[in-house]
Amino acid sequence: MKIENILFAGETLFKSLDVFDPDYIPPNYNFRENQMEGLAISIRPVFRNSRPINTVILGQCATGKTTAVKKIFEMVKENKDDLICCYINCQLHNTIYSVFSKIHKEIVGIEPPVSGLSITRLYQIIVEQLKKKELNLIVAFDDINYLLHEVDVNKIFYDLLRVNEEYDSVEIGVFAILSDIEFRFELEKNVSSVFSPHEILFPPYTYNEIHDILLDRVKAGFYPNVISNELLGEITNQTYESGDLRVGINLLKIAGNIAESKGSRSIKDEHVDEAIAKNVSVSLKQSLESLTEEEKELIGLIAKEDKIFNAKDLFNDFNEKTGLKYHKFNTILNKLEFLRLIDIKFTGKGTRGNSRQIILRFNIDDINKCQV
Ligand SMILES: Nc1ncnc2c1ncn2[C@@H]1O[C@H](COP(=O)(O)OP(=O)(O)OP(=O)(O)O)[C@@H](O)[C@H]1O
Ligand SMILES: [Mg+2]
Repeated sequence: MKIENILFAGETLFKSLDVFDPDYIPPNYNFRENQMEGLAISIRPVFRNSRPINTVILGQCATGKTTAVKKIFEMVKENKDDLICCYINCQLHNTIYSVFSKIHKEIVGIEPPVSGLSITRLYQIIVEQLKKKELNLIVAFDDINYLLHEVDVNKIFYDLLRVNEEYDSVEIGVFAILSDIEFRFELEKNVSSVFSPHEILFPPYTYNEIHDILLDRVKAGFYPNVISNELLGEITNQTYESGDLRVGINLLKIAGNIAESKGSRSIKDEHVDEAIAKNVSVSLKQSLESLTEEEKELIGLIAKEDKIFNAKDLFNDFNEKTGLKYHKFNTILNKLEFLRLIDIKFTGKGTRGNSRQIILRFNIDDINKCQV
């Protein structure tokens, strides 16, 4: 090792590593003024003692939906004591009990007992507390599609929203955050009786917007001159192509770490190339690890051969292997599509043109390397 590298080994290129964390809330949050305004309009009625506007927040992945809701909830928390804003990550809270526990915690300050309370009792406690403390409530269900897979969302919404009818003094609103437009129809059908929401759309960021957001991260996260404009341009290209802003933020972090581990004072071409190769496998691995055993079975079957599957044949293989029925197969297939592991194409053939083809979005070697 060169003397220079030894001297440099303890130093860092990162001014702040947190800036690249998935739950970092950027102080500079641009290009979403209209959406933030929309959220404010949904919440505002509570400030005049009337009901908040139920709202669906729609947009592809990494378009800033979670950030917008968290930011606006923070603003409310700082300014208004009698409105409880409860943010629920449905990937973590995917049962009715768990959802109501989170709401209970937000209102009462502590979790209810893990077991022993019925859902009805838990719900009663929540309503009594809201009444007693003269509080209003907005619940944001983030990534609600995870809940749609598990429980009857209609029931949760109905329970929450009927409080409005029963008690004049308590106002409750529901926000539903969705990253897949397809789910909108499922949601509307399920819950339309109690929930007629406004919609706020989060369109994908343009190339220039992505560039500006990434440049902001570079300024906040790295020391000056750690990355050149050209390399930031390369990372912006990759990000734009993937359609996922998180790819860019991750690439910056990985490239910074690689450069640092090699004792370099700045990020070089080869560090970005290595980061790009590494990033694909990391995000794929994370998606695969989050799957249930049954879901892994199905993706394993799809990754067995490098070909386009016909849904019917695939179901036969799946059924033979697991004994599971068609309905379950379909649910899993939709989830794999939602996670962007596969594409489903209607061929226009078969009964009523419903025949489908299943296409793996990744190289089968990459999937198998992740040991499904
Ligand atoms: N306008 C913006 N300015 C700065 N950073 C942003 C902006 N929009 C999104 N981000 C960043 O991009 C990442 C993804 O944003 P966020 O989690 O809010 O997206 P999302 O729409 O909720 O995505 P998903 O549908 O996958 O949950 C976060 O790291 C966030 O800080
Ligand atoms: Mg989100």
